[in-house]
Amino acid sequence: MISESMFNLRELAESVIKKPGVFLDETKLYPEYVPEVLPHREEQFKQLAKMFKHVVVSPGTSSARVVLYGSLGTGKTATAISFGKVISKLASERGIKLKYVHVNCASAKSALSVLREIKNQLGLKVPDRGLGFSEFAQALLKEMDMENLYAIVTLDEFDSVLHSFESEDKYSLVRFYDVFHAEVMRLNFIYVSRMRLYDIVKALDEISGSYMMRNTIVFNPYKSRELYDILRYRAEEVFYPGVVDSDVFEYIANLVGYDTGGDGNARKALAILYSAGKLAEKEIEEGRASRVLVDHVRAVSAKEDLDLIHVLDSLNYLNLHQLLLLKSIAIGLKEAGGNYVSIGLVEEVYRRLCQDLGLEPRKHTQIYYYVSELVSRGIVMTRKTLKGRRGRSSYVSFGAAPLDSLLKALDRAIAMRREIGE
Ligand SMILES: Nc1ncnc2c1ncn2[C@@H]1O[C@H](COP(=O)(O)OP(=O)(O)OP(=O)(O)O)[C@@H](O)[C@H]1O
Ligand SMILES: [Mg+2]
Repeated sequence: MISESMFNLRELAESVIKKPGVFLDETKLYPEYVPEVLPHREEQFKQLAKMFKHVVVSPGTSSARVVLYGSLGTGKTATAISFGKVISKLASERGIKLKYVHVNCASAKSALSVLREIKNQLGLKVPDRGLGFSEFAQALLKEMDMENLYAIVTLDEFDSVLHSFESEDKYSLVRFYDVFHAEVMRLNFIYVSRMRLYDIVKALDEISGSYMMRNTIVFNPYKSRELYDILRYRAEEVFYPGVVDSDVFEYIANLVGYDTGGDGNARKALAILYSAGKLAEKEIEEGRASRVLVDHVRAVSAKEDLDLIHVLDSLNYLNLHQLLLLKSIAIGLKEAGGNYVSIGLVEEVYRRLCQDLGLEPRKHTQIYYYVSELVSRGIVMTRKTLKGRRGRSSYVSFGAAPLDSLLKALDRAIAMRREIGE
């Protein structure tokens, strides 16, 4: 009896190992993964290389400042990171110590916390406690001098800074070397924004704004043809050869392409491909399908599912407080029982959640920014007033995504963020 069941287990393990799967390597679709090549971002890459040339040719002679802007999922973050990799390698081949630093400003509260993050990523020993921004910056620069170190710093999600930081803090981050004069300029900056250039400039004082306009690189929403190439390329890393029917790429590209009525968001296109692959995998296991087909894409891209896919995928990109706010909106909607819930109530629930978790809630202005950020990511919708009610308070709602599935996913994401201690 015993030996028979062991034999069965062996057979089971063998059959799983032998089975030609769908996914060769799913991790290549995880948000933290940056692909080796970024099709259709060659021009942006070239512009970056031009603007940062001096860092490799004559390091320290000037400090570059570049703004990358464009809508959701247009490859801004991926391009900055892969440029950082390439240029630090080029520099090191020339004996220049250059490090690339990527800071997500959405989780930062002040210019000082941004600097702290830069220091951590540079692996420098600057005492962390007690120093104000200015003292800390001086200490950081001194330490960089000692180590003869240069850095390219990407301030990703810079909109968070533009919306919720004190103006002095914004100013320090945009005009660093106007504040801290130095003979050797070791820090260079890339600012990443989803806002229009006009709005970026408007969010700053006149001189800072005009600085930001000087070097800009635009990331336009992807056209269907471009998405087609991106999907094909990314699929090669993720799926076994031949598993995905070639019509699938065209279908998704047309669904999401900017010129074919979509929003040109590569993340969304990849998320749809991933879900279609997951569905196909299940059907293949059950013997009902043999490849990933357009039908699988159709099945996962019905309007409601598409919203849910998009929202679930977006959760990976949100920080702990944004996740808590989303959860508060979901709870608020359930408690209030309508389609929209007031931001006032959302804030109340949010504070409660923070208290339960022993966290300090974020300030009012930052909460407002987070909500606007959730709107610009297409996760929630807002409204100025509710019919029949007076007052200026705004109301929030989700798209079509079902609340219960969302709450479950949110709890998982929140638990994970707390585990990694973000
Ligand atoms: N040209 C490309 N080739 C391959 N993959 C790409 C390309 N552009 C974007 N992607 C992928 O699409 C996803 C979204 O890209 P990324 O995160 O860089 O967008 P973003 O512009 O920073 O968006 P957001 O404004 O939402 O932060 C990532 O998984 C990225 O790897
Ligand atoms: Mg990004």
